[in-house]
Amino acid sequence: MKVILAESAGFCFGVERAVNTVKEQIAAQLAVPEEERLPIYTYGSIIHNKHVVSDFENKGVKVIGSLEELETIHKGVVIIRSHGVEKKVYDIMEQNGVTCVDATCPFVKRIHTIVHTESEKGTHIIIVGNDGHPEVEGIKGWVVNTPDVIGTKEEAENFQGNLSDNYCIVSQTTFQNDKFQDIVDIFCNKGYNVNVVNTICNATHERQEEACKISETADIMIVIGDPQSSNSRKLYEICRKECENTYFIQTLDDLHPEIPDTAKTVGITAGASTPNNIIEEVQSYVRRNF
Ligand code: F3S
Repeated sequence: MKVILAESAGFCFGVERAVNTVKEQIAAQLAVPEEERLPIYTYGSIIHNKHVVSDFENKGVKVIGSLEELETIHKGVVIIRSHGVEKKVYDIMEQNGVTCVDATCPFVKRIHTIVHTESEKGTHIIIVGNDGHPEVEGIKGWVVNTPDVIGTKEEAENFQGNLSDNYCIVSQTTFQNDKFQDIVDIFCNKGYNVNVVNTICNATHERQEEACKISETADIMIVIGDPQSSNSRKLYEICRKECENTYFIQTLDDLHPEIPDTAKTVGITAGASTPNNIIEEVQSYVRRNF
């Protein structure tokens, strides 16, 4: 059977960088005498993948779940994940004398810089994204005045601001491009003076487009990802629309497909938090057994 593995399957640049940062920190601590080693923490789970997180936990890396918990830590190395965090988190680390290793994705960091600089000038910041998402919470925390988060066209229609203010619109990196454009259009049509910075990252979009294309021709489609990962679930939905024999698995152990006699092509893709070794394992199994 023909096997097509999506080129964009798995870690995006920012997630890969964050995971490698944890590996480097583990290696760095192991390289010093035991009595000098510092505890390693990540602020939140480094990625949405329980296998990766528990593997790191077994190597001594602890996950900090809240600001309150961070406040109690006075010694160690704290790694910031790719989503980024609010300025307050850096301030607490500095006060407590812990070492900050910043693995915030540079594309997210750029948004922090924009909203910080613009809001310092008095510009009103609009973040197009899902309120409550850690990345959006992080961006909000760099705004010095009060930002607004807009997630839908309805919210944009209902927004009531001051027409004489200056506005800067940015986006959560994983927001959909067409939805972002619709929201921007509403602000422009209502006469707001807006400076629009499209901060959407293409990695998610490219992965979804490729998955969609492959699943159009595949007889069986395999999506590898953690059920907690929203981009993996979204990939499954996209593929399922095009290929009814789509399977959503976390690891090879979950793969028990019914293979139709007529099946000729298998497609494989994976969410942004799926490690390469799991993708490889599934791929080589499929090549050997399908
Ligand atoms: Fe990944 Fe960074 Fe884009 S974390 S999705 S490369 S913004």
